[in-house]
Amino acid sequence: MVRSLKSAVSRGTSHLSRRGYATEPVPERKVAVLGAAGGIGQPLSLLMKLNPLVSSLSLYDIAGTPGVAADVSHINTRSEVVGYQGEAELGKALEGADVVVIPAGVPRKPGMTRDDLFNINAGIVKTLATAISKYCPNALVNMISNPVNSTVPIAAEVFKKAGTYDERRLFGVTTLDVVRAKTFYAGKAKVPVAEVNVPVVGGHAGITILPLFSQATPKANLDDDQIKALTKRTQDGGTEVVEAKAGKGSATLSMAYAGALFADACLKGLNGVPDVVECSFVQSTVTELPFFASKVRLGKNGVEEVLGLGPLSDFEKQGLESLKAELKASIEKGIQFANK
Ligand code: NAI
Repeated sequence: MVRSLKSAVSRGTSHLSRRGYATEPVPERKVAVLGAAGGIGQPLSLLMKLNPLVSSLSLYDIAGTPGVAADVSHINTRSEVVGYQGEAELGKALEGADVVVIPAGVPRKPGMTRDDLFNINAGIVKTLATAISKYCPNALVNMISNPVNSTVPIAAEVFKKAGTYDERRLFGVTTLDVVRAKTFYAGKAKVPVAEVNVPVVGGHAGITILPLFSQATPKANLDDDQIKALTKRTQDGGTEVVEAKAGKGSATLSMAYAGALFADACLKGLNGVPDVVECSFVQSTVTELPFFASKVRLGKNGVEEVLGLGPLSDFEKQGLESLKAELKASIEKGIQFANK
């Protein structure tokens, strides 16, 4: 279904065409947020409601979604919002979705690693992935639920069993690592943050998060100790927030921002916008590991191209070697759980 900008404007809704050409049609796009009543889910739902590429916003959670949906639906932007509550409504929430964003599950408390979340979140992700394979097998899936290093392989296994797996359509959302790397780098390098680019590769937990500051732009003359400190701060960014929140959860607002950025990139890719490139944890042959985060070109079918790592500094080469064992174990843990 395609709704032209002209007809949308004539009905009084305001939204942008994808490249800013007034005559181009803006496709109808349904985005479903699973876990929409949570700490990430609520601000993420708000940000998706502000996105002019979304025509239908489906907010699902096991509880609390009627309130969130009523609240968000009063905002005078393009999308129509519907809240769905409880597993009996999951199918309706997913039907026809182009993009499914999953921030469902429990967050970390101080002293916990992302892996400590495994048992609860793995079960939730398995249930949600099973429903996706049934109700919207062609959707692009944006996995936020931690540990991403394991939940993405879990979803892949569920989709394989259901016969719906397409590696181009499954993404672990690592955008928050990129957002953090950009912010921290801009602060240290004293360059305008809006101009900064830093690829972050590997996985999404501790040392598996590998920011490539040697490729950061604009260039800055940071010494080895500064790069080391920036790398550590990026890897520990989540823990910094968990500790500051002192038992009240993990990153929610910055994660909602990062999740909204990544979902927007997926929508742009689906709509045919050229050269949409983001880092994401996807099925990969960049290393010997079956899943790996790196720059990915997004297109009409999801992943169009998984880009290579580019030249690494000695420090980054070392980081890459030392992350592999942990990342491999987390991927295998996910696969084993899914096949239990
Ligand atoms: P939260 O506890 O505030 O919200 C989670 C929501 O999920 C709740 O509303 C809960 O009702 C819902 N939920 C639980 N089981 C569900 C199910 N079966 N179906 C649908 N919804 C269900 O947690 P928060 O802070 O929003 O974090 C959510 C997840 O995101 C956690 O796993 C957290 O570790 C992860 N996270 C990921 C980040 C990333 O960079 N990828 C960054 C920060 C958090």
